[in-house]
Amino acid sequence: MNIAVIGVGYVGLPTGAGLAELGHNTVCIDKIPDKIAELNAGKITLFEKDLEDIFNKNRASGRLSFTTDMASVKDADFIIIAVNTPPHPITGAADLQYLYAAAEALAPHLTGYTVIANKSTVPLGAGNKIAEIIKNKNPNADFDVISMPEFLREGFAVYDFFHPDRIIIGTDSKRAREYVEKLYEAFPQKPNILFVKRLSAELIKYASNAFLSIKIHYINEIADFCEQSGADVYEVAMGMGLDSRIGGKFLRPGPGYGGSCFPKDTKALSYMANQARVNLSLVDAAILGNDIRKSKMVTRILNAVKKIEKPKIAVWGLAFKGGTDDVRESPAIQIVQELISRGADITTFDPKAMDTAKAILGDAVIYADSAATAAKDADVLAVLTEWDDFANVPLNELTMRRKYIIDLRHIIDGATARQYGFYYRGFARND
Ligand code: NAD
Ligand code: UGA
Repeated sequence: MNIAVIGVGYVGLPTGAGLAELGHNTVCIDKIPDKIAELNAGKITLFEKDLEDIFNKNRASGRLSFTTDMASVKDADFIIIAVNTPPHPITGAADLQYLYAAAEALAPHLTGYTVIANKSTVPLGAGNKIAEIIKNKNPNADFDVISMPEFLREGFAVYDFFHPDRIIIGTDSKRAREYVEKLYEAFPQKPNILFVKRLSAELIKYASNAFLSIKIHYINEIADFCEQSGADVYEVAMGMGLDSRIGGKFLRPGPGYGGSCFPKDTKALSYMANQARVNLSLVDAAILGNDIRKSKMVTRILNAVKKIEKPKIAVWGLAFKGGTDDVRESPAIQIVQELISRGADITTFDPKAMDTAKAILGDAVIYADSAATAAKDADVLAVLTEWDDFANVPLNELTMRRKYIIDLRHIIDGATARQYGFYYRGFARND
């Protein structure tokens, strides 16, 4: 099939490369000329495990191409929209200006029957609006707008593309359904495709992300209780997870959930429900609890350097989680910003997210070239992102001023740290 993907970001790029790998002719369109120029020069614009291989291979075969020219959608059987839908700074509602701009821009170029699949996370009813925009702009166009929410995890985008738990498609068009089946025909294993109403598909995306956010908030509160009561949160999580109705995933306590989606999608869902006069109290509790969590973690770190006038804090990890260079809504960045505002000197290291973090933190912190260098002469080391690499740093070689570790990701082995004379605090009393 001929595919066009609009929006070449964390979703659009792996999706485009994955579709090309399945054998489809795929053109990826973005409005940022510099990004397209880099991609056309063979340079990948974001870090995502295994992406570079399929990017290079399919570009070389000519099945994957990049352009800023929206007219390139003209031969597409399938157009996938994957533009950003950021939160409104005050209400938290999803900002749909980029989505609607994409619909406006593609409409005049449609030829023949086309399925327009929206992958951006959008409020209920946005699919109707996309169809309305296209109809107004090009009354003769023959098309269906379907909802095709994305469930990939950053850091695993390529794996998730080829091994999705489920593919949710919102449409009542028989013709669009046949196109979807054709799109995934070349999958190594037949994926689990659930066809539902368009509005249901739009809500499945928000309801899923909010559920996982609530699960994380819950285990963070249970971690607080464990710390007070002497129970071990990791044992509690493991015991809970053995119940298949609960499941063991997303029960890792930490500094709060971050990333480009959980914070934004919980707020957007809460806003939508409020507009509909429905109270989603669990979602609201997770939003509030997650904000408070980061400040609590700042207090925890500062308590470790209470009597030191200008404490030097080493921070390991800036990305919102391990395996990505993405720092959007990263708890690590928010914690660092609060630490700076409270007078701390920060030296930091992240294996992949230094450049993206620099765009936000500028020269307010010192960037080290390794985890060990970041820890040099520090009064406390705070581990803020779950990079596996941090587990392998030889603690006995760290040259800190004070041997204090606050590990918010359970990455460092507490027993080994204590053996080397460190004060170590994770979320369990004797971890
Ligand atoms: P992103 O910011 O990384 O990429 C979006 C891209 O769209 C940008 O490169 C931007 O320049 C481009 N764009 C915006 N308007 C355009 C237009 N009119 N024409 C052409 N290009 C345009 O965003 P992302 O993280 O890939 O997220 C995209 C959507 O997918 C969002 O709605 C998000 O909520 C959803 N989503 C993201 C993830 C994720 O892991 N990042 C996972 C599931 C769903
Ligand atoms: C999440 C979902 O997992 C994807 O299914 C979804 O497609 C995506 O959002 C999206 O809509 O953008 P992602 O943001 O890549 O994926 O990251 P997650 O692995 O879900 O982690 C989100 C945050 O929760 C991170 O800050 C992570 O550190 C934190 N987390 C996760 C915990 O604190 N504890 C856990 O047990 C799991």
